[in-house]
This record gives sequence, structure tokens and C-alpha cells, in this order.
Amino acid sequence: LNVIIAPDTASAFQRAATFLADHIRGAAHPVLGLATGRTMESIYALLVSDHQAGKLDFSQLTSFNLDEYVGLSPTDPRSYRHYMQEHLFGHVNMRPEHVHVPDGTASDLVAECAAYEAAIQNEGGLGLQLLGIGETGHIGFNEPPSAFDTRTRPVTLDDVTRRQNAAMFGGQPDAVPHTALTMGVGTILEARELLLVATGSSKARIVAEALLGPLTPDISASAIRLHANCTVILDHEAAAIWK
Ligand code: F6R
Repeated sequence: LNVIIAPDTASAFQRAATFLADHIRGAAHPVLGLATGRTMESIYALLVSDHQAGKLDFSQLTSFNLDEYVGLSPTDPRSYRHYMQEHLFGHVNMRPEHVHVPDGTASDLVAECAAYEAAIQNEGGLGLQLLGIGETGHIGFNEPPSAFDTRTRPVTLDDVTRRQNAAMFGGQPDAVPHTALTMGVGTILEARELLLVATGSSKARIVAEALLGPLTPDISASAIRLHANCTVILDHEAAAIWK
């Protein structure tokens, strides 16, 4: 595990954006696993400005997002598909057929998850998977407990997560869907490389538990320590345990 503690939040985001850009430029067939959430907004903004400055070409990139709420259509402003359009896809030259987000409106959710796994395999697997960490210790929406061999599947969201994500739902935790589709911990661990990014003091406790506590399905982020090629980028606040 390679842990980078950036001197401030802006440089944590810059390090992460550079890490992703290097993969997009350097891989013969770049396949990125992408995340959503507040942490990723600044990172995507940096990638968009690189693109707009003519420094980063997305035409060869294929992407697979980690997760999506069940029941929200791709055009619903609260869906993760819409988030990706707003923060990244709508501003760069990715080909629409190269973009993958689980479809939370599929009539057969289990079949949708199986097709998602197959689509990842068809592209030769994930080259680099970008991860955030939730207050429950989840990566993707792998809420406690999530075994380390889980695959893409429908899951029930923890109440802690529904509160964490309420801002997009008018501040009403009750309005946040109860279920979602997520890549499994096993799916994530099969990526050739992992990059987890966490910033801010609200992440300090869970980052410490995930990186220094027991390897446990109760904190799915602890599983990243089993990966041979994993980088964690933190700002000083999220890395408070090392101070
Ligand atoms: C979202 C995802 C989640 C988030 C995590 C942190 O696609 O995979 O695991 O990365 O909940 O969210 P923020 O960045 O909003 O704190």
C-alpha cells in the first residue's frame, strides 16, 4: 500500500487527477473504474480543465462507474449517470459507447449486474479503479458486511449512507433510495490498480480503521490492503492518525 499524504486538500486532488491522467495517456487500452460523490467533483474538474487546455484526450478511454441508485433514470438529476454527465462526460471527448454506468432502472437487476460484469471482462478488465470511502467504510456501495469476494449486485443502503448522501435529495435522508447496484469488493479487487482518495477531517476515523484496523467485511475499504498495486491519497485532515 502506497500512502501519499498531500500538504493540503488542493494538492491531494491535483495528485489524484495527475494519477488518472497518466493512466489515460499511458495505457494502450485505458479502462478506468470511476466513482461519484463530493470527493470526485474537484478531481473531475481538474481533468476537464486539462482536456479543455488540449492536454488530455479522452477518445480512447473506456469507463465503468462503480454504482447507481435503483429506480433513478439516467436523466434524473440525482442519478449517478447524471452526475457523471455534469462533472465529466459532458465536458470531454469520450465516446458515448465507451461509457458504462449500471442501469438502476433495469427490469431484471440481477441480469443487469451480470451483464455489467461481462462488459468489464469484454474490455479486458479494469486498468485503474478510482475509489472514495464512505462513513460506513464502504467502497462503491459495499455496505457492511460485504464479503471480499462479492460481485456486482443489488444492495441495501445503510441508513448512515442515506444520511451522508441526502444533500442530493433535498437534504431528506428519507428521499434517498433504499437500494442500489454496485460493483462488488471482488470486482474492485480484480482491477489491475486501485487509487483511493479521501480528504477532510470527517474521513479521518474511517480512513484509520480501514488502513490500520482489522481486515473485515464490516469495512469493505479494508480490502484494498489485499491488493498488490494500491495507492491512497489523503490530505492532512483525513490522515490525522499519522500526525
Ligand atoms: C460513489 C462511491 C462511494 C463514495 C463515498 C464517498 O460512487 O463509490 O463509495 O466514493 O461514499 O463519498 P464522498 O466523496 O461524497 O464523501
